[in-house]
Amino acid sequence: MLYYSIHLTNISKVHRKVGMAHWCTVFIKFNKVAIQVCGIVGVVSGKNISEKLLNGLSNLEYRGYDSVGMCFLNNGQLNIKKGVGRLEEVNKRINFLKFKGNAGLGHCRWSTHGGVTEKNAHPHTDCNNRISVVHNGIIENYSELKDELAKKGHKFSSQTDTEIIAHLIEDNLKGNAEEAVSAALSRVEGSYALGILFADEPELLIGAKNESPLIVGIGNNENFIASDVPSILSYTNKIIYLEDKEMVVLTKNRHKVIGIDRKEKKKKIHAINWSAEAAKKGGYKHFMLKEIYEQPSAIADTLNERLRNGSVSFEKEFRIPGDYLKSINRIIFVACGTSWHAALTGEFMIEELARIPVEVEYASEFRYRHPILDKKTLVIAISQSGETADTIAALKEAKKYGVQTLSICNVMGSSITRISDGVIYTRAGPEIGVASTKAFTTQLAVLYLLTILLSKIRKTLNEKQVRDMINGIRKVPLQLQSVLEEDKEILKCAELYYSKLNSIYLGRGVNFPIALEGALKLKEVSYVHAEGYPAAEMKHGPIALIDKSMPVVFIAPHDVYTYKKVLGNIEEVKARGGIIIAIATEGDKEIPKKADHTIFIPKNLYTLSSMLAIVPLQLLAYHIADKLGRDIDKPRNLAKSVVVE
Ligand code: AGP
Repeated sequence: MLYYSIHLTNISKVHRKVGMAHWCTVFIKFNKVAIQVCGIVGVVSGKNISEKLLNGLSNLEYRGYDSVGMCFLNNGQLNIKKGVGRLEEVNKRINFLKFKGNAGLGHCRWSTHGGVTEKNAHPHTDCNNRISVVHNGIIENYSELKDELAKKGHKFSSQTDTEIIAHLIEDNLKGNAEEAVSAALSRVEGSYALGILFADEPELLIGAKNESPLIVGIGNNENFIASDVPSILSYTNKIIYLEDKEMVVLTKNRHKVIGIDRKEKKKKIHAINWSAEAAKKGGYKHFMLKEIYEQPSAIADTLNERLRNGSVSFEKEFRIPGDYLKSINRIIFVACGTSWHAALTGEFMIEELARIPVEVEYASEFRYRHPILDKKTLVIAISQSGETADTIAALKEAKKYGVQTLSICNVMGSSITRISDGVIYTRAGPEIGVASTKAFTTQLAVLYLLTILLSKIRKTLNEKQVRDMINGIRKVPLQLQSVLEEDKEILKCAELYYSKLNSIYLGRGVNFPIALEGALKLKEVSYVHAEGYPAAEMKHGPIALIDKSMPVVFIAPHDVYTYKKVLGNIEEVKARGGIIIAIATEGDKEIPKKADHTIFIPKNLYTLSSMLAIVPLQLLAYHIADKLGRDIDKPRNLAKSVVVE
């Protein structure tokens, strides 16, 4: 078994590209939105760059896999090669490695419908093929700019908004490339991460960012730009995080960060201590499986140095004063998807133990609900990526009311962490698989720590109870190792039931969100329909679905309040011929008598059972998807970060 120890101090994994092509503007009129989520990489070097671009894009493919392209700057010429399909397929046709250049750009694109053509693939160029651009973002005023440029005689060869940028730079180019880029960008509205090369400037690479991710890598006799850190980690661990409306001007030996207004900026170079290996599959068949197995170390990292002297302390980014936490009378969580399920678990923990009323809102709903907020409400956003558009919008909405906001996030420097007043980082490390696994359990760990902190501040628990909670969570990383050892039994279930078309997940209390999350995992990666319910709700409707072909997954660890009731629910399913897969606490004698399969999790505090119980469900979803031959790390129709509302 692989057991990584990944220590993170700086992370940046912001994954998205939202581009909007001409056809997209047309579609919007019919209320259809085309979405692109893409990755970009660029390098200027003393050596040939084709291998670096290829390697960079292979690490960015999770962001987009409809089409790929590269630009090689060689002998004053821009050589652009691109095609529709996945990197591997396109590379088979083009063989990117055979092209030479000392500067280059790479791009991988993803769109939900239409417009996947070679012409629309990046890089794009100006009229004379002297400027090459890769882009991640939406140029909102692209239509006006296109009309204006067309009137001046610019000829467009694609339907993308990106191409406008190349022409706009061309239009502003009066000898100085840097000036031309800043003048062009001062006209652009919307979001962008850009990589730009000039045929007449063989030593120059320019990057720029606004609301889309772009980092700068400082190498040895070479410099990089990229959508995320892992894509260039094999070449450098020295990273500069660009802020919105900043540009970077790179040669192989120099870097300069300036504002779009051309004011020079002083930027810190961060030394990243992720290994490049951590961002790769490390021998596992899929990233999802690797990330499931990384959970013991991810949780250990998340706890590291935060549990001290019988209490919890967060880093300086936390920034929410203890006095304020004492004064709040309400917490509202905003989140989406898996992060929303984590928030539901947080609701259970905080209400039960810190005795603060909690509401959990879908971020997408919250922002249009004209929420009632006052200064005693703390709004907490949970997001793995920190780039989910709905969650960003919800946070911005909350801030209008002048409330304090806190984010729980995995990506250092991401949008959500910059918007919120305080941040607690989950230290899950890079999560590449589209289905969230270790991000979820580390979110639960952070929520548990936050609960301890709130309980201490508000004195809702005595010293012994706090000590027990701390001892409980300290056991989790090791206990998760033993849960992972149940994998054989889980694989057996997958082999028996992978062809079933539906399934139901049932849990209560802190494990009701785990039922929801288990069902979501199955849907996402295997495309098998699954529903999660509070176990007692079954009798109010879903029980009608039970027959001998329906697998029902019970999350039934021992607790004082509901365990016996859940046993009753198991009986009800059994009586109707359903297939029972149960997650039970080690030593449970009752459940194995009733269930077709029992997967044991170790004994710990009931609140912590959620963190242990989700892991078998992640594995179950994984194995079923694998049996069905699904594209597990890049399931159809999904993107790692959903950056459109
Ligand atoms: C998780 O498996 C999903 N891919 C998805 O529900 C995700 O949790 C959601 O889009 C929110 O993402 P975030 O945590 O990055 O904000």
